[in-house]
Amino acid sequence: MATFPAASERYSKPAIFFHWAIFLLVALAYLAIEVRGPKGTDSRAFWSNVHFWAGTLVLALAVLRLIWRLWQGAPHEIDSNRVLTFLSRLVHLALYVFIFVQPLLGILMINTGGHPVTLAGLDLQIVIADADPLARKVLKDVHELIGNAFYWVIGIHALAAIAHHLIFRDNTLRRMI
Ligand code: HEM
Ligand code: HEM
Repeated sequence: MATFPAASERYSKPAIFFHWAIFLLVALAYLAIEVRGPKGTDSRAFWSNVHFWAGTLVLALAVLRLIWRLWQGAPHEIDSNRVLTFLSRLVHLALYVFIFVQPLLGILMINTGGHPVTLAGLDLQIVIADADPLARKVLKDVHELIGNAFYWVIGIHALAAIAHHLIFRDNTLRRMI
């Protein structure tokens, strides 16, 4: 019998690559912000650049990842109760939205502050909005709020994956590796 891509047991190799590459870049973006140090220091400039690079790459990979997901689908959900299935779909949707919205907010925040986004070592200026001090304030607050909230969402998602592996002993984590 022919198997459709969506019914195959594991996530496809590209889907697995996108998942873990984006995970590492998000972790790097968080790390860079945590260790950047006080304003005006070399450390601040270096880690801010790392933050912009990692965050912008998240957005670029998110676009490719979404295209791949729409093209290829995903493996069938592992049987579970309705509430858990609903919650896992909700968290996955939130994570998809996050990898688009959070980098976009960062870029918009810098643009509305009157600057292009520059990626160190690359001759490229990203400008998608004009200067707007009021908008910048709101964008900064939302970027911070979402950034802080998603520590928790990502943590819950990771804990759920580990619980599937260690407690329910099903295939959930294995098929994403
Ligand atoms: C997935 C990607 C990203 C994540 C997870 C993320 C997360 C964060 C977090 C947690 C903070 C610190 C908030 C606080 O102080 O409480 C922050 C600050 C900041 N982010 Fe991002 N960010 C991402 C992408 C970007 C991108 C692409 C840019 C711009 C190119 C950007 C620009 C900034 C700036 C300028 C700040 C400092 C705001 C300030 O202190 O004035 N971020 N980000
Ligand atoms: C920035 C961090 C992360 C993001 C943005 C993220 C995002 C996502 C998204 C959007 C999906 C749904 C994939 C799809 O159906 O197309 C997913 C699935 C999955 N993630 Fe993550 N993830 C992150 C971190 C982690 C970590 C740390 C783990 C493990 C400890 C993990 C384990 C999994 C597993 C096992 C699946 C498959 C779930 C299933 O088959 O239902 N993820 N992730």
